[in-house]
Amino acid sequence: MAFYRVYKAANHFNYFIRRFLVICKVFISQPKIFIQSVDFLPEFCRGFSIENRFDHVPTPNGNKMPDVSNPLWKYFAEYKTGPGVWKWNHYFEVYDRHFSKFRNQPLNFLEIGIYSGGSLPMWLSYFGDQCHVFGVDIEEACRCYESDRIRVFIGDQQDRSFWSRFCEAVPEIHVLVDDGGHTPEQQMVTLEEMLPRMPAGSVYVCEDTCGISNLFTAFATGLVHRLNGDSGQIHGVLGYTATGVQRAIHSIHFYPYMCVIEKHSFPPRTLEAPKHGTQWQPFL
Ligand SMILES: C[S@@+](CC[C@H](N)C(=O)[O-])C[C@H]1O[C@@H](n2cnc3c(N)ncnc32)[C@H](O)[C@@H]1O
Repeated sequence: MAFYRVYKAANHFNYFIRRFLVICKVFISQPKIFIQSVDFLPEFCRGFSIENRFDHVPTPNGNKMPDVSNPLWKYFAEYKTGPGVWKWNHYFEVYDRHFSKFRNQPLNFLEIGIYSGGSLPMWLSYFGDQCHVFGVDIEEACRCYESDRIRVFIGDQQDRSFWSRFCEAVPEIHVLVDDGGHTPEQQMVTLEEMLPRMPAGSVYVCEDTCGISNLFTAFATGLVHRLNGDSGQIHGVLGYTATGVQRAIHSIHFYPYMCVIEKHSFPPRTLEAPKHGTQWQPFL
């Protein structure tokens, strides 16, 4: 028991030192962004502490499951035997919300993390005949799930050169689901490599961003701050020329353990806030 406690303390100390070195590295390489982030800390802590404001919400007796009118949920709920599919129940509502517009359209769909292969035919069945499914996994054993409309690539999602090779073979991915190794570094490298290469209108999903101190979530909130930025180039009475991030990204959605990013179908040139009407209060 004492040995286990010492082992755990050593692990914590090791983690603390490694994180401290990462923090020093960012301070040296990006001092302006570092100071901005420190400035956010009080409000971050305030938001982080909000949980007790929701303590009054009663615990329900059971869960409201997704509706069977959600075809993906219907498939999963009725699927009992065959190659395994492993998903959180609450993901199915999110999938249908962001993916339904792609059904029965020409589509290249990529899932990172194949495991036992059952999710790949599930996506084919949901998206329809014009869909091509691509799967990526680090395990050679997953090659056996390849078929007519399912192509399997074996590689490490944290390896940037793997993504260059992948994109040479598959130039366009319209929907990407990252259900791979789930370490924040793997998730961040995959997003950095793939999101900029995905076409207008595409949707990017990162799954299993579990934990209140999840580092991928910290990374994605950095992207949210960029979405709220301004180019500094004034346009019209009240407006800005859109930044690169604002031209590319339509919206960023957070769900329990999941982050969804939608790219613009029609990138905006400007962000403007015109006033319509003739009667205005004098105070502003
Ligand atoms: C949670 S399972 C995927 C579950 C599957 N998508 C499903 O819905 O049933 C995670 C998979 O990611 C793979 N994986 C782990 N590390 C990876 C990496 N660095 N690159 C690519 N795949 C990885 C694992 O081999 C495993 O098959």
